Amino acid sequence: MALTINGEPFDEPYDTRTSLLELVRRHAHLTGTKRGCDQGGCGACTVLVDGERVLSCLTLAVQAEGHEVTTIEGVGAGSALHPLQRAFVEHDGFQCGYCTPGQICSAIGMAREIERGVPSVVTPDLAAQPSLTPEEIRERMSGNLCRCGAHNGIVHAVHETFAEEAAR
Ligand code: FES
Ligand code: FES
Repeated sequence: MALTINGEPFDEPYDTRTSLLELVRRHAHLTGTKRGCDQGGCGACTVLVDGERVLSCLTLAVQAEGHEVTTIEGVGAGSALHPLQRAFVEHDGFQCGYCTPGQICSAIGMAREIERGVPSVVTPDLAAQPSLTPEEIRERMSGNLCRCGAHNGIVHAVHETFAEEAAR
C-alpha cells in the first residue's frame, strides 16, 4: 500500500521505523515541514493526513499508508498561495518563518474541526456549534509555538481567513 503526498503517490521503500516527518523531509525531499522539538511539543512538524492535522514527528510513516498526506508545499506555493498564506503575509504572521508551515497546516485542520462542531476547552456551550473567536483560535493553536512571538499576527491571519470563509 502506498501513501500519497500532495497528490503524488509515494511508493519508495523505507525503514518501517521512519517517522512521517523523516519521510517527507529526507525521502520525499519536501523540506517545508520543519523539525523543532521532535517530541510533540512545538507543532513545527504539523502536516495534514486526510485533512486532519497530525504531528509528523510522532507519527510513523507506515500509519499514513493508504492515506493522503498534505504538506505546506501542497497547501500552496509561488503565485498560487492558499488564502491563509496570503493572510500571514498581510498580518505579519511570521518573522523567521520556521514555525509557519506547521502553523498554516494546523490552522487549516483546526478550521475543519470547528466546522465539524468539535469543542475545545474554552467553548462556552458544548451543545452549540463553536464559533471562530480569537479565544478559540488561541486555544486551538496552542500546540503550535512561535519563538519569534508572531502570535497576534497569526491569530489575526487565521481569524480573517476562516471567518470570511464561514461567512460565504
Ligand atoms: S517537531 Fe513535532 S511537535 Fe515539535
Ligand atoms: S516566525 Fe519564527 S518561530 Fe515563528
